Amino acid sequence: MANQRVVVREVSLPWMTESELRESLPFQVQEFVPIAVEDAVLDFHILEEFEREGRRMVRILLVAAQKTMIQQLVQAAEAARLRPVGVDLVPFAIVRSVGMIDGTGLHGTEGGDEAIVDIGADVTSICVHAWGVPRFVRILPTGGRDVTAAVARALSVSDDEAEQLKRGGQGGHSQKRDQALQAALSRAASFADDIRSSLDFYQSQMPGARVERVLLTGGGSKLEGLERLLVDRLPSQVAAGHPFHRVSPAIELPDEATAEAEPLLAVAVGLALPGVRG
Ligand SMILES: Nc1ncnc2c1ncn2[C@@H]1O[C@H](COP(=O)(O)OP(=O)(O)OP(=O)(O)O)[C@@H](O)[C@H]1O
Ligand SMILES: [Mg+2]
Repeated sequence: MANQRVVVREVSLPWMTESELRESLPFQVQEFVPIAVEDAVLDFHILEEFEREGRRMVRILLVAAQKTMIQQLVQAAEAARLRPVGVDLVPFAIVRSVGMIDGTGLHGTEGGDEAIVDIGADVTSICVHAWGVPRFVRILPTGGRDVTAAVARALSVSDDEAEQLKRGGQGGHSQKRDQALQAALSRAASFADDIRSSLDFYQSQMPGARVERVLLTGGGSKLEGLERLLVDRLPSQVAAGHPFHRVSPAIELPDEATAEAEPLLAVAVGLALPGVRG
């Protein structure tokens, strides 16, 4: 899942053991989450220990998800005769499928953290990680559908036509396609600024942290010119992520079709992969 009813926040608390933390969490974190803790499912991931004014502290990644939202998702799965075996977050899944976890799949960097950004239709998920261990998560309520809507408005066409134009449908470079792309990229620019603000915020919160590289995935990342736009606006390297690098998909497709499908499958691949325990 990834939606506006789950939040992930970095929280610093006085140090305690993991089991004490688990027990006392509901009493300690209400001020950090916009959901009433009694209506939330809480989980956490320990990031690090540190000292503040001589006091031993622990920094955690706190996850709070609205209970009724999770129940609805479980019901939907069950109504489709599927048996849910776990609840996981899209930002964690994309780290497993796209992130450089064990040195495979991607060329090394000089250190620094890596951000994986999945641009969906309605939601953009961001996860900064270091060697597979999540450090920071943001779920933004924007995605490819907003870009399509901007194209529809600018050209006074239906959403379906705007979607076709945005994707470059019939190919070629008609004047309409050029106008569509311009509208799409100007919407995407403000979106790029949101991504940048999230990464800037992370770097300001974590002393010494630096996002070295941003890897893109999700259908929305296929927008022509988006990568260029992000390269211009982000202080990190930007590249396409490759969820198929870590697995060998047993699908018989021409290379071109495989490349088309790859960004759409990052979440599914990530859910199927075991994670790194921090
Ligand atoms: N070639 C393309 N160019 C631009 N955008 C594209 C292209 N192909 C797909 N998209 C966009 O990708 C989005 C869908 O991506 P994806 O399948 O990753 O989303 P989703 O997982 O269904 O949605 P969400 O993650 O928000 O729940 C749509 O907004 C669509 O317009
Ligand atoms: Mg998605």
